[in-house]
Amino acid sequence: MKMLTKLSFLWCLWIFLCGSCCMGRFVVEKNNLKITSPKSLRGVYECAIGNFGVPKYGGTMIGTVVYPKFNQNGCHRFNDADTSLSSKPGSFPSFVLVDRGDCYFTLKAWNAQMGGAAAILVADDRVEPLITMDTPEEANGGNVDDYIEKITIPSALISKSLGDSIKKTLSSGGMVNMNLDWREALPHPDERVEYELWTSSNDECGPKCESELNFFKSFKGAAQLLEQKGYTRFTPHYITWYCPEAFILSQQCKAQCINNGRYCAPDPEQDFSRGYDGKDVVVQNLRQACFFKVANHSGKPWQWWDYVTDFAIRCPMRAHRYTEECSDQVVQSLGVDLNKIKECMGDRNADVENPILKAEQDAQIGHGTRGDVTILPTLVINNRQYRGMLSKAAVLKAICASFQETTEPSICLTPDMETNECLVNNGGCWQDKSANITACRDTFRGRICECPIVQNVKFVGDGYTHCEASGPLRCAVNNGGCWQGAQAGRAYSACIDDHTKGCKCPTGFRGDGVHSCEDVDECKEKLACQCPECSCKNTWGSYECSCSNGLFYMRESDMCIGKYSASVSNVGFVWMLILILGIGGAGGYAFYKYRIQRYMDYEIRAIMAQYMPLDNQPENLNQVQHAV
Ligand SMILES: *[C@@H]1O[C@H](CO)[C@@H](O)[C@H](O)[C@H]1NC(C)=O
Ligand SMILES: *[C@@H]1O[C@H](CO)[C@@H](O)[C@H](O)[C@H]1NC(C)=O
Repeated sequence: MKMLTKLSFLWCLWIFLCGSCCMGRFVVEKNNLKITSPKSLRGVYECAIGNFGVPKYGGTMIGTVVYPKFNQNGCHRFNDADTSLSSKPGSFPSFVLVDRGDCYFTLKAWNAQMGGAAAILVADDRVEPLITMDTPEEANGGNVDDYIEKITIPSALISKSLGDSIKKTLSSGGMVNMNLDWREALPHPDERVEYELWTSSNDECGPKCESELNFFKSFKGAAQLLEQKGYTRFTPHYITWYCPEAFILSQQCKAQCINNGRYCAPDPEQDFSRGYDGKDVVVQNLRQACFFKVANHSGKPWQWWDYVTDFAIRCPMRAHRYTEECSDQVVQSLGVDLNKIKECMGDRNADVENPILKAEQDAQIGHGTRGDVTILPTLVINNRQYRGMLSKAAVLKAICASFQETTEPSICLTPDMETNECLVNNGGCWQDKSANITACRDTFRGRICECPIVQNVKFVGDGYTHCEASGPLRCAVNNGGCWQGAQAGRAYSACIDDHTKGCKCPTGFRGDGVHSCEDVDECKEKLACQCPECSCKNTWGSYECSCSNGLFYMRESDMCIGKYSASVSNVGFVWMLILILGIGGAGGYAFYKYRIQRYMDYEIRAIMAQYMPLDNQPENLNQVQHAV
């Protein structure tokens, strides 16, 4: 909030002269707090996310509330003898409840973290709508900045009434369990995240500016990667104020503003007589906005990150290098067209609107779910203000939580984003220990039970109790989860490498196909080799059958046949042959009979002809003979 206090001069004038413009909304970003026990308190409550520490965007956290006997405002170190905040094995993590007041929110959070608490709940001390707990202003000073960046536990402000109810339960010996839920704290509608950073080029704002620069340096790589791959659309924004008309000609407005009082920024040192003026900051902000516009036009919006980090490193105010020349050098070193940037910036002395800064002023007023931007820097993700520390891991976690589930890029699934919930009991997910395949995946959202893809083989199932390899290559991984066995040089598998699912014992085996397939004893069960000449011997997965009397066993037809047919392998053909031979035989026999008959006829006739004249027959007989 320090920026705002430095602003006091312009800010007060602004509030005084155009009160109605200041009626915008500051939105208190909230997450859900669900009390699971005791029954009397069970329900979902709202709490306000503190603007420090690391909220578990996209995730949830379970804990038991501890209200310390001493040090109830959390302003001093928790001492193990008084209060044990560290969770013991098998118990829920501790959420320490402290009272608002007496010291900074951040100090309470730091003490809670040092005491071993997993999260801090601050109970409001007055009846009012929830407020956003922020980092202290520099003016209130000391060495507060030492620990602020080290706070990693999430914090939440709860209402006075909820705080009172929890304390009452605890004082009567009850136990309060709750679930902090950030899953809906940021919208996550689709596979691209839009985010904005409201910032200023002013680098003389103490620890806040330093931590912002550190954030730029560490986050730059991830931001550029996300942008280049099209996962995100980032836009930088700059806050400016305008000088009330009556003061345009005042020395103050002339030093703080450009374009005739239209765009102003507070003096970096709060001293108009020395150092850089507010208008230098406005000009550099405009330059950064124009840099983004030009870079975005050339299809490389991510160059903005290079420019702002390089500028902050090469052209700091304290080295008196916060100048146009220095800025030009940075622009040129990045190969961006300087003329286009100058053109975009326009004439700062002219009494005209600057389209870029005008658009920035318009955007400053909240719209939709976002609310007005009043804290610098402010990160806005999917049109919601981010609350928490500006650090690479914390911001990346929030951005990752803003992708529609399962569409988040691989950067979100890297080890430092993981929760390690799979290490305990495999996260309650399905696994095949023998094949080292698990459905548990650690992500920034917490663990997900999802059937995996192993060596291009997709597993399908509910992920909790059941996953099964699918697709044409499914037998390649762990034999598709099916039984397989080998004995005496023979191997059998119950996985069938086609598109069918499941496992099936091969012929000669019987079983569920998954855990076991037992050899079938074909001989004992009289399934084959049962003909009188057959003698049967069971083998693993099959049987052997031999025939007595020099006959040959035909496996296909399960019978013994003569050796001569050994070369005939097709049983249908054999039958056909037998049929043809049969028909041929029968036909031959019929002819034979016919010929005998005819021959007999002929003989009889011949004998009879010796006794009586038979005139017309011999011709006929010859014909018959010819025909045979
Ligand atoms: C950046 O470029 C994209 C596409 O080229 C455009 O849709 C977007 O509006 C631009 N952003 C700004 C702030 O100009
Ligand atoms: C199981 O797989 C994981 C990751 O693929 C590997 O790190 C681990 O060493 C494996 N364990 C065994 C027993 O093969």
